[in-house]
Amino acid sequence: PPLNAMLNSFDFESVAREVMEPQAWGYYSSGGDDEITLRDNHLAFQRITMRPRILVNVREIDMTTQILGVPASVPLYFTATALAKLAHQDGEVAIVKAAKKAGVPYMLPTLSSYTLDEMLEARSPDQQVFSQLYVNPERSRSEEYVKKLEDAGVKALFVTVDAPQLGRREKDMRNKFTQQGSDVQGDDEEDGAVDRSQGATRAISSYIDPGLNWEDVPWLKSITKMKVLLKGVQCAEDAVSAYKAGLAGCVLSNHGGRQLDTCRPGIEVLPEVMEGLKEAGATKENFAVFIDGGVRRGGDIFKAVALGAQAVGVGRPVLYSLASYGMNGIVRMVHMLQDELQMVMRLSGTPNIPSITEKHVIITNLADH
Ligand code: FNR
Repeated sequence: PPLNAMLNSFDFESVAREVMEPQAWGYYSSGGDDEITLRDNHLAFQRITMRPRILVNVREIDMTTQILGVPASVPLYFTATALAKLAHQDGEVAIVKAAKKAGVPYMLPTLSSYTLDEMLEARSPDQQVFSQLYVNPERSRSEEYVKKLEDAGVKALFVTVDAPQLGRREKDMRNKFTQQGSDVQGDDEEDGAVDRSQGATRAISSYIDPGLNWEDVPWLKSITKMKVLLKGVQCAEDAVSAYKAGLAGCVLSNHGGRQLDTCRPGIEVLPEVMEGLKEAGATKENFAVFIDGGVRRGGDIFKAVALGAQAVGVGRPVLYSLASYGMNGIVRMVHMLQDELQMVMRLSGTPNIPSITEKHVIITNLADH
């Protein structure tokens, strides 16, 4: 179907499933174990109901915001996802360009299919990006990588902390068996670019240090002047520890349902984290909270913002729209989310992002409430 036949983010998923190689589809779409969390990530948004206000002047709707000080057209960023070339030959380079066109930040993945230099070179002169870090068992490699990011003007470093071991993704595992059935790991490219000849998940795990722990946080802070955040926090205690350790924020995420199965969606964790942070004295200004997982509608963005998130990350919708239509597909996907968010804001009586509050949603059907 032509690009303008795409009406929502789910449409891209259907097209991607048709056009992608089975191995690539298996790697992107799979979740851990029984995929309970994968499915629940989007469903959780549906457990939150709207509480709109009337007779507010909503002639003009302003969706613009700042994400860690970076201007954005909407409270959304493209989160890090490994191996974008499995979607499209233009891979991460197309995502960098789409991020610029759509006016949102992109979190460059450590395990990219283009090299870090190629991703950085794809930026426009005034374009600001973030970066995701898997801490390497060889710490000096991570230090070099981080230095390169900092020298390139990257604004923030999101350290992924939910993957000391990669989850069991059975679709991906089955594909791997049909491909090779070997245990050998490849590591011969620069800049963390991945040799996926042995199956995507297997190739990745050797890049991640399972020994990483809270005592390493001072080291992480010492190797860069960039803002450092944790990606993959799932409870108030850990968010408060991150705040007390002097970090700049955290992402409430279950890795798109790809790691520990039956854990809660980020949107469900958000109320407890905001409460814990408030008690600990954190403010929105000195500690930023993000969520990702299952964001598929403009209304999902609204609900996350209402509950205290500075912005949301989107993962698979970027890969699926890239696989289906290349860079233009990603830009259209964002425009559709923007249109949806604009309508939800208008119908809720919230003409700009700061006007969206927890009073505009009801969360009694979320766990812990
Ligand atoms: C991911 N994610 C991820 N996260 C990370 O920190 N480093 C990584 O290399 C990857 N790789 C990756 C690959 C693929 C194919 C997917 C789908 C996801 C997790 C990602 O950043 C994010 O947490 C989820 O994708 C958010 O969920 P949705 O938007 O995909 O539902």
